[in-house]
Amino acid sequence: MDRNETICNCMGVTRGEIIDAITAGGLTTVDEVGEATSAGTGCGGCQEIIQEILDEING
Ligand code: FES
Repeated sequence: MDRNETICNCMGVTRGEIIDAITAGGLTTVDEVGEATSAGTGCGGCQEIIQEILDEING
């Protein structure tokens, strides 16, 4: 897994930033990740990947 991979191109948010926000904040939804990192709040095209990252971390 590449933490430096940009997941949200609109907002320039990397996989590592999303993972850290989820683990630090106990986030469980795409909306919460958007509030914490801005990821997914532009075109919305990355929300499916954000959900996959949530599923990976939260099971
Ligand atoms: S790529 Fe994330 S909102 Fe557009």
